[in-house]
Amino acid sequence: MEISLTVNDLPVNEDVEPRLLLVDFLRDTLNLTGTKVGCDTGQCGSCTVMLDGVSVKSCSRLAVQTNGGDVQTVEGLASNGRLNTLQEGFWERHGLQCGFCTSGMLMSMTDLLQRNPTPDEAEIKKWLDGNLCRCTGYIKVVESVQYAVQKSTSPVRMIVDTPYKRIYERQVQYLIDADADALVEDHYHPDAVVASFDFTVKGKENLKAHFVNYMKWVDIQEVISTDKFTETEDGFSFEATVRTNYGTAQVYDVFVLDDDGLVTYHFTGVK
Ligand code: FES
Ligand code: FES
Repeated sequence: MEISLTVNDLPVNEDVEPRLLLVDFLRDTLNLTGTKVGCDTGQCGSCTVMLDGVSVKSCSRLAVQTNGGDVQTVEGLASNGRLNTLQEGFWERHGLQCGFCTSGMLMSMTDLLQRNPTPDEAEIKKWLDGNLCRCTGYIKVVESVQYAVQKSTSPVRMIVDTPYKRIYERQVQYLIDADADALVEDHYHPDAVVASFDFTVKGKENLKAHFVNYMKWVDIQEVISTDKFTETEDGFSFEATVRTNYGTAQVYDVFVLDDDGLVTYHFTGVK
């Protein structure tokens, strides 16, 4: 029987046996072997994929039932070779051991986070009911999902767990809120210098005027990612990908702070 569907955003047309299970179609016909077969009886969740935006057990569906549908498998989670936040959470919080159950866990948790981007621990545990793991004891899985929730809800898209990261997070929130007064009053030393390749501004009042003017032209809408956040004894630096009214930009910043945590020098540049 001829079926047409979308798998990981790519069109697929295949002639399949009416009795072929979706999981076997994915693994054997399309070679998408990230989806696993654990029990074959709808109990373990290792075969979980997304079908039309909802997680389903692909051992309990026929391939022909997906005709005209949209299937997402674990292979479709990363983009441009970069793990998504949930995958990163499993990596950072050691949410797997042998990994056999992991693709199913990831797809179930993808469904949960689409329904509720900020689930609490009880909801995460309840949602994990349909996914069995013989290795981890589940605690690390819960922590992995919590990592993803924290990171995706932070305005700087990182786990904010140090004083410098909290300063950076507040700075970004002020920029997104276009609140120049609070930005300068809360963070900059009275004699602070902000510099780039084409300007140098010194002193709080001048900084406020600078940021007000900057915010008139540039609307910072979202930090997409923060990379290479580096802390030293007297400051921090980072690179970030930012969405503004002009599109996406790569920026980098260096901050020097005094003993009270106020910024004395700030260099900012666009790549
Ligand atoms: S293989 Fe599908 S639920 Fe176990
Ligand atoms: S990590 Fe081994 S079964 Fe879950």
